[in-house]
Amino acid sequence: MKILIVGGGGREHALAWRLSQSPKVTSIVCAPGNPGMANVARCIPIKAEDIEGQLRLAKDERPHLVIVGPEAPLAMGLADKLRLADIPVFGPSQAAAQLESSKGFSKDLMKACNVPTAEYGRFTNADEAKAFLDKFSAPYVLKADGLAAGKGVVIAETREEAETSVDEMLGGQFGDASAELVIEEFMQGEEASFFVMTDGNTAVPLAGAQDHKRVGDGDTGPNTGGMGAYSPAPILDEAMQERVMDEIVNPTIKGMRDMGMPYTGVLYVGLMIGPEGNPRVVEYNCRFGDPECQVIMARMKGEILPLMLACATGFDLADCKRPERFEDAAVCVVMATEGYPGSYEKGSVIKGFKEAEASSDGVVVFHAGTSEKNGEIIASGGRVLGVTALADTVTHAIDNAYKAVNEIDWPEGFNRTDIGWRAKGRG
Ligand code: AMP
Ligand code: GLY
Repeated sequence: MKILIVGGGGREHALAWRLSQSPKVTSIVCAPGNPGMANVARCIPIKAEDIEGQLRLAKDERPHLVIVGPEAPLAMGLADKLRLADIPVFGPSQAAAQLESSKGFSKDLMKACNVPTAEYGRFTNADEAKAFLDKFSAPYVLKADGLAAGKGVVIAETREEAETSVDEMLGGQFGDASAELVIEEFMQGEEASFFVMTDGNTAVPLAGAQDHKRVGDGDTGPNTGGMGAYSPAPILDEAMQERVMDEIVNPTIKGMRDMGMPYTGVLYVGLMIGPEGNPRVVEYNCRFGDPECQVIMARMKGEILPLMLACATGFDLADCKRPERFEDAAVCVVMATEGYPGSYEKGSVIKGFKEAEASSDGVVVFHAGTSEKNGEIIASGGRVLGVTALADTVTHAIDNAYKAVNEIDWPEGFNRTDIGWRAKGRG
């Protein structure tokens, strides 16, 4: 089978790498891909957000399945256009992708389906938004309704800061994305991500993971796209996963179906597990997490292709069980360019890939923001590599991932040194 993967980050490299090991897969095309993906796929330089370009490519290549990695093309309706052209696609329609592309939409859906989440209000008027803050005490949580590249959430420590943020956001801080705001209750607890695959009727659980959003050790400094991840997440044990399926995932899938916008593809549920052990939704995403995908793909020994095809075609998913052999643990340490998530220089040379991958069994270095120049790999983004290790326990996976990080020769790069601290000793 021929597969087309849309995207070119660490998440898409992990998907291409895992699919390349399937005996059913004969060729993989990636657009735009990256130099790491080029080892297992043919890369075509078409941007993920170039919807017409992607559609033309799919019509030319006629793959058996298109997998859309990032949220932007889904929110722009790429999956709908592919389906109209009779090309099977793993990823939700534009309408269903609103679970991620509109925070207000997702909150209203949760409320309608009794899915536990933070109390909230939706606002386009600054005075009404400020008055609503009376309902809560600090810290205040303000969210731009639309997609803002992971930067649209403000946690304000004081009322004054919150009011300033209301004015800034409604004043166009995130462009159209913050023309509407969601203000919500601050939830205490431990965050975890849970991933399921669905054909719109049935949901199959994959695995849980935990990300590290802050740039610095000890969860300090500004938020990033994610500086590292591990799976499994000890807090998402079997019993908790069952609760999340019953209380959150299944009502969400049913709610979307009942509204006439069945959700298909992967659903990423961002959870807050409260001090009493009750899970609540922080957010939904309509795609795999990055770097969570890297650890889930590393752990997945069974075939992922039949599941993805079943989600894309609506055929047979009910017969697919949870993918087998998920018992090992994986850790991904993200290496980023010095300066990220602020401004940074591009073009520094990275070496040591072979040494890193040879440092222990089960190590793979996923590319995220790299390019090739004169036969060398150079950094061309903020998050650049995802050094990933699979081992029998999370603790061993952490050790092996850091051993591999030490082999990467890249003076202009940095990484957190405490990825997996919550799980150390717990698994
Ligand atoms: P989101 O983009 O909705 O995932 O928000 C980004 C981050 O902000 C989350 O990963 C949480 O750490 C934090 N966050 C969002 N909403 C809340 C909330 N209601 N209570 C506490 N923290 C939150
Ligand atoms: N790692 C967080 C995300 O993909 O949204």
